[in-house]
Amino acid sequence: MSNTLIIHSTVKSEGSVSRVLTESYKSDLKKADPSVTFTEYDLGLNPLPALSASNISGFFGTAEPESEGAALAAKREELITALEAADKIIIGAPMYNFGMSALLKTWFDYVLKSGRTFRYSEAGPEGLVTGKSAIVIETRDGFYSEGDGTAVDFQEGHIRTLLGFMGVTDVTFVRAEKMAFGPEAKTAAIEGAANDLSALAAA
Ligand SMILES: Cc1cc2nc3c(=O)[nH]c(=O)nc-3n(C[C@H](O)[C@H](O)[C@H](O)COP(=O)(O)O)c2cc1C
Repeated sequence: MSNTLIIHSTVKSEGSVSRVLTESYKSDLKKADPSVTFTEYDLGLNPLPALSASNISGFFGTAEPESEGAALAAKREELITALEAADKIIIGAPMYNFGMSALLKTWFDYVLKSGRTFRYSEAGPEGLVTGKSAIVIETRDGFYSEGDGTAVDFQEGHIRTLLGFMGVTDVTFVRAEKMAFGPEAKTAAIEGAANDLSALAAA
């Protein structure tokens, strides 16, 4: 039995392409392996409090009981435990202003924890979240896979770096791009990404 962690990071409650594609992958995976279990976080519907002066004590381990910092520390522990328990990680990742959404960046702020998900030694940084694979479903209005667009894609490299820093190096990116290039381009992008995801679920 495998456990799949799903992270949604769209701000939309309706009409999200990344959520549709993530759901489509989930149902393909369930067909391929009925015993698969899912642990799901929807960061748009239930946002994590961003790091700030009022909760950062939880990040540094100095929070008073019952404080905002204590709540942050508890949530951080929950998210890291969910990550550790997963065999596979699926991230629905819309591009916002050439990068990932602030909601997803905040999730990384929580789960990247020194001594838990990575550590430094004399040999440099070492990821501690090993033996897992990830699929990142990137949705974009523009086109960043080739040509001039590649220079301003600050989403994919950043996500790859953060996952890799924790030890998750087996990462597949599935892109639905050109969604603002007209209705036909949008349909083709969604269908293309859904087909790629079906193939991954069946593999
Ligand atoms: C705040 C915001 C910023 C965006 N910035 C970009 C961008 O820089 N490049 C791009 O191609 N699309 C951009 N988009 C469009 C989204 O990437 C696109 O609509 C995608 O489908 C969003 O995924 P979702 O439908 O799951 O939310 C932006 C959308 C929003 C709401």
